[in-house]
Amino acid sequence: MSVQLSIQHLSKCFEPNTPNRRVALDDLSLDVERGEFITILGSNGAGKSTLFNAILGKFLPDKGRIILDGDDITYWKDYKRAAHIGCLYQNPQWGTAPNMTIEENLALAYTRHASKSFFAVNRRDSAYFRELLATLGLGLENRMKTPMGMLSGGQRQAASLLMATIAKPKLLLLDEHTAALDPVTSRQVLKITAQIIAQNNLTALMITHDLHQAVSFGNRTIMLDAGRLVLDIGADERAGMTPRRLADLFAAKAKHLLSDRSLLSV
Ligand SMILES: Nc1ncnc2c1ncn2[C@@H]1O[C@H](COP(=O)(O)OP(=O)(O)OP(=O)(O)O)[C@@H](O)[C@H]1O
Ligand SMILES: [Mg+2]
Repeated sequence: MSVQLSIQHLSKCFEPNTPNRRVALDDLSLDVERGEFITILGSNGAGKSTLFNAILGKFLPDKGRIILDGDDITYWKDYKRAAHIGCLYQNPQWGTAPNMTIEENLALAYTRHASKSFFAVNRRDSAYFRELLATLGLGLENRMKTPMGMLSGGQRQAASLLMATIAKPKLLLLDEHTAALDPVTSRQVLKITAQIIAQNNLTALMITHDLHQAVSFGNRTIMLDAGRLVLDIGADERAGMTPRRLADLFAAKAKHLLSDRSLLSV
């Protein structure tokens, strides 16, 4: 096994020297093995999305380093990182062009990494896209000319997953990507997610608030609290883990929640 992503002593404070000062990442270190699929838990404001934004280069950290597949990307521009990192968010509107067809979006994602030239879908690509869409089991292979914006939230997240992974990224980041879907669709998209990650042997991080999802998907679960890593549950320990037990660990670790009287009194 080799380390695919190494987060080393990462810190980020928003609005320092103001009353709104927020420590979002606090000396956070994390090594992710190649092919590992990690679920990430943490209460609101724990720093989960900030960690993703740091990896994506949306801001520079105050301190620390980010190494991806052996490259120190800490100071790389965000567009340069985007060629190697696939990401998906809660909002199905983000990340794809709503007026472009499914096929065009796939072609864009497919060629974006290969060349900067204007993309054109040739017949071979088209057949490949159809094949990929068929693996989703949603019938989208027969709707390749449909604009993305006309799909339901679940169909769109599933298609977006293909777009985020078609160029075999070095890292896949999923930020509550099924949170806006109904439970049945959410389960379906999660199943597709696990299938795509396994088939492509991707290294993936998935943020979720669902404790059941956190233990049933991937092979390791971590928890952030106040910008720090407070729980790291590997394969062996996860084998006997239940959502109930995880909830207890969660409550014990989320110290600031327990010490916040305003929250306890609700
Ligand atoms: N651009 C920003 N400017 C100022 N503060 C920010 C910014 N981004 C995040 N924060 C703050 O950093 C902290 C961590 O936020 P973050 O979005 O990472 O939390 P999260 O764990 O993703 O929470 P949630 O589960 O609600 O999505 C919060 O206190 C948040 O208000
Ligand atoms: Mg978040």
